[in-house]
Amino acid sequence: MWAPGSGSCRTRLVLRTTFDEQRMIMSFPTDRPAVWFVTGTSRGLGLELVGQLLARGDRVAATTRSPERLLAALGDGFDPSRLLPLTVDLRDEAAVGRAVGETTERLGGLDVVVNNAGYGFLAAVEETGDREVRDMLDVQVVGVWNVLRAALPVLREQGGGHIVNVSSILGLTAVPGWALYCAGKFALEGLSEALAAEVADFGVTVTIVEPGYFRTEFLTGDSLALPAEPTEHYPAIRAMTLAHLELQGGQLGDPVRGAGAIIGRVVAGEGPLRQLLGSDAHSYAAAKVEALRANVEAAALSAPATDFPAA
Ligand SMILES: NC(=O)c1ccc[n+]([C@@H]2O[C@H](COP(=O)([O-])OP(=O)(O)OC[C@H]3O[C@@H](n4cnc5c(N)ncnc54)[C@H](OP(=O)(O)O)[C@@H]3O)[C@@H](O)[C@H]2O)c1
Repeated sequence: MWAPGSGSCRTRLVLRTTFDEQRMIMSFPTDRPAVWFVTGTSRGLGLELVGQLLARGDRVAATTRSPERLLAALGDGFDPSRLLPLTVDLRDEAAVGRAVGETTERLGGLDVVVNNAGYGFLAAVEETGDREVRDMLDVQVVGVWNVLRAALPVLREQGGGHIVNVSSILGLTAVPGWALYCAGKFALEGLSEALAAEVADFGVTVTIVEPGYFRTEFLTGDSLALPAEPTEHYPAIRAMTLAHLELQGGQLGDPVRGAGAIIGRVVAGEGPLRQLLGSDAHSYAAAKVEALRANVEAAALSAPATDFPAA
């Protein structure tokens, strides 16, 4: 058992592997409501997370560009003292820092951070403009980094916490038309993997969530961004864009179950670094692993050929 300055306790489990004596420390408060900081919450998975967390009795700081839409969607069946709606531009480091400060001050701490905000973009690489690239990376990489820079000192100093970065199965494998989205999510995965190793000894856990298609608003015209200057050279991508817009409402993944699985992973405190959500995500991941294994095996003889010869 472990008690931070606030006097609360967390379950703390230390496992020693027989291989490398690496420590895995898992922590989640058990004697008080947890405090969560969730980004992108006025719709979709973020909204579902906030609703389920409030129903659990936890406390939630919910960042959004539209608190009106968040509050309208939540209705009035919750204790308002447990919710801190925050209007935050995630690209603004100072604003994010203030939001995290307000969270610890008004909700009494910080236990779990969920970097959920994100949007899709469908275009060929050569159709994707400079502004479009920067906008995507500003939200999916710079914004997440701003949240991490503000939240990590709190978690590190208290010796426990959980960071959940919502990536995508397209953060693990790439498909035509999704290059910019994949670039953002691959970057998120890289930073998350490094972060997990950096903060494990502080008792901070990192989980990368990789959903397949989920029935949120992700594929609606409001969420899915399209190129300002499409060309005539990629008819297959135009057809795929239409097919995706038509898929809206028929996606396999249930956001209620998805949000429940994410919360369950955090509360349990243990599990693999990557949390795949959806049978479609699982199939894509398995295919990626097979392709990567074939690639690695094919290079077994050729890769060492570029080493300096042994002296
Ligand atoms: N649904 C899927 O099929 C799917 C699959 C794989 C991964 N994901 C990932 O899951 C996460 C949640 O998406 P969702 O499915 O819930 O989609 P959604 O219904 O469109 O909701 C996306 C949320 O992200 C925020 N957001 C969107 N664009 C933003 C921007 N430019 N700046 C800041 N915030 C922005 C919005 O927050 P506010 O409007 O409240 O500010 C919104 O609540 C995203 O990271 C997405 O990439 C979704």
